[in-house]
Amino acid sequence: MLDLIVRHCTLPDGRTNQDVGVAQGRIMAVQPALPAQAGTELDAQGQLLSPPFVDAHFHMDSTLSYGLPRVNQSGTLLEGIALWGELKPHLTQDAIVERALAYCDGAVAKGLLAIRSHVDVCDPRLLATEALLHVRERVKPYLDLQLVAFPQDGVLRAPGALAQLTRALDMGVDVVGGIPHFERTSAEGAESVRILCELAAERGLRVDMHCDETDDPMSRHIETLAFQAQRLSLQGRVAGSHLTSMHSMDNYYVSKLLPLVHEAGVAAIANPLINITLQGRHDTYPKRRGMTRVPEMLAMGIPVAFGHDCVMDPWYSLGSGDMLEVAHMGLHVGQMTSQAAMRQCFEAVTTTPAAILGLEGHGIAPGCRADFVLLQARDPVEAIRLRATRLAVFRAGVQIAATPPAVARLTLPGRPQAVSWQV
Ligand code: FE2
Repeated sequence: MLDLIVRHCTLPDGRTNQDVGVAQGRIMAVQPALPAQAGTELDAQGQLLSPPFVDAHFHMDSTLSYGLPRVNQSGTLLEGIALWGELKPHLTQDAIVERALAYCDGAVAKGLLAIRSHVDVCDPRLLATEALLHVRERVKPYLDLQLVAFPQDGVLRAPGALAQLTRALDMGVDVVGGIPHFERTSAEGAESVRILCELAAERGLRVDMHCDETDDPMSRHIETLAFQAQRLSLQGRVAGSHLTSMHSMDNYYVSKLLPLVHEAGVAAIANPLINITLQGRHDTYPKRRGMTRVPEMLAMGIPVAFGHDCVMDPWYSLGSGDMLEVAHMGLHVGQMTSQAAMRQCFEAVTTTPAAILGLEGHGIAPGCRADFVLLQARDPVEAIRLRATRLAVFRAGVQIAATPPAVARLTLPGRPQAVSWQV
């Protein structure tokens, strides 16, 4: 006797008519016509059952703060940074917790059950760190929140930042962050990468740095990050976020760089919604897109995830916690329109970030955690195309969210019967 069976599912790998059986929070079987009974049975009617969405790059300490203390009028990165500076002294722990919990509610409704969030540690009070550590515990039953100690103002450039970052790790923050391109010089940036990677190696932690988030092709900290990852045997535990300078780099240099990144086991995290809006802002025309070289890295075997980065905060006035919207933008910006590339875009918001975060048991296979999302779509490409409705969201085999199917019913002159259209 099982706890749950979801019958007649299509899976992201293309298998159809699969029954997924669950007991004690784990997937026990995935096969056609599962000969078993369960306390709860659901007929997926051929719709797509996907592992939950995973956001590899987010800022939960600033999310939903849109309009506080004022709106970013120009919509630029520089005004966003200034705005965050104005907001920081007025932040309270309660307000951060409240906004973060509200975001997590919305994320769950969208089938987003794991988020890696950077938390700004350039604040002697570590207010946001304390708040998000609290949120991490609060949401644990339904959402995996992984925190990155992120020195927004530069770990060497901002007085006291290294001590604060270390204190945040002592308090239980999971991952070491950094921002080498924002340090005073390239040499200081490289030095910050060394210090932070050594700190991670000493403590057995993962690394995820904001790296080269600039249009300057000479911003090459990804090279140093790969070097340090290899030197310190951190393969498979290091990610470079953004890497937008790579968009503008010389092709010959990139032909040397990518094999080094691959050899070092470093993953890449692009943030298509943010990269396409914030990069290339000094350009007239032609105007660069700014997103890193996603198809080229994938072809090299480098794991690439797509992150949301921001939702309704000083840097970005839009966003909805919908990782299909992120995949949709990544697909377009990267011109990833082949059948294989469109599927890779779906993986970039599900399985790839799960591997980067080191999530245990993510997937639709026997032994995996019974966390999954039933989508109103027949396959991953249709899911991206329609930003498909999350019909049902499950955590440990228990349904935690439901949304009715999105269907418009039309009554049109000249059409004999009412027409239905999936919206
Ligand atoms: Fe970021």
